[in-house]
Formats: sequence, structure tokens, C-alpha cells
Amino acid sequence: MSAEPPSAPRVRTFVALDLPAPVREAIEAWGARELADPALRPTPADKLHLTLAFLGHIPESDVERAAAIVTAARPRPVPMALAPSPAAKPPGRPRLFAIDVESPAAVELQAEVARELIAAGLYEPETRPFWPHLTVARVRNERGRRRPRRVGTRPGELPQALVHTFDSVRIALYRSNLRPEGAQYVPLANLDLPPAG
Ligand code: 2AM
Repeated sequence: MSAEPPSAPRVRTFVALDLPAPVREAIEAWGARELADPALRPTPADKLHLTLAFLGHIPESDVERAAAIVTAARPRPVPMALAPSPAAKPPGRPRLFAIDVESPAAVELQAEVARELIAAGLYEPETRPFWPHLTVARVRNERGRRRPRRVGTRPGELPQALVHTFDSVRIALYRSNLRPEGAQYVPLANLDLPPAG
């Protein structure tokens, strides 16, 4: 565990898998049609990723160790396939819409990286099982409340062109800067992953 005083500068960090740009752009283009309900805030293409481990606020002095764990992962192909339509979470009064990702390689890589991060005292084990997903939209809150607005038109199916297997391009440690206009994600370290075959 860190010996930093609580006042030491902290950075909000997470580890994620990056998707190929054409896939992110195709999801954004689909979202322009299917995530047009005014209650929704679609995730822009440059912020679409598959989160492996959300570290939260860690001391700045721990970033180097977290980066070393990410870059020490064994580069391997991480093929992934998207579910045909996004899921509402929770289903009744959703806070977000996410696409489930089928990827045994991502599950394996997540387990390895999480184990290393936990051993280094940089990550708290999650109580819930790992859920590989892409958050494609968040639901805006009702004015002055923390309750999500009602979504009149929920997103439909992804185009056929997106329902195929593709490879993650890299694993990265990101810094997340929270801003009123939306979080900004800055890569701090990354490791390229080879394509399958
Ligand atoms: P999401 O994909 O479900 O939105 C940066 O904020 C990334 O970390 C997002 O992809 C987000 O997951 C994830 N994240 C943010 N807060 C989190 C939390 N408290 N627990 C787990 N993941 C979180």
C-alpha cells in the first residue's frame, strides 16, 4: 500500500483496451442515429474503450508502478466481438447503455493485470465479476436531481458491419480528468497488441 499522505496529489486512473479507430468511428456513426434521444449523452469515438480496471484516485507517485504493470503484460492478440444490440443498465430506469463484449482473451488479460495491480496495492479487488463492455451512452440526470431522465427512444441494433470479430489494438493506462463538459482521457502508458493470425 502507498505510504503517501492523504494530501499528496492524486490522479484518477484506469486501465483499458483500445479498439481500432474504424470500429470506434462506426459505433459513433451508428450512435448518431440510435442514440439521438435528448436524454442521452453518447460516448464520442475517441472515448470508447473497454475498461479492464478502474483504479480511481491513486497518488501521482504510484503512476509509474501502474504503468510498469501495464507495459509488462505479455503482448497477445485480443479478439473481441460485440453483442448485436446495446443493453440498458439497469433495465427499468437506465443510467447507461452498454454493448456487451465477448472476448475470452480480454477476460484472461484483465485477470492477469488485476492480479498484478492488486499485489502492488494499486487496485482493490472488485466484488462484482468483470463485465467486458463498451459504454455507448450515459443518461442525463433530471434537472437538479441525481435521477436519470426517462429515455423515450432506446437504441436499436448495431449494423451488420459491426457484428464481426476485431482485435484490440493496445492496452493502456489512462488518466481521467473530470471536467464539466465531460471527462478527458489522457494515455499515460500503453502496450501495442498484435492482431490474431
Ligand atoms: P464505464 O465504461 O462503465 O463507463 C473511465 O471513467 C472508465 O472507468 C469508464 O470506462 C468507466 O466505466 C470506468 N469507471 C468509472 N468509474 C468507475 C467505478 N466506480 N468503478 C468501475 N469502473 C469505473
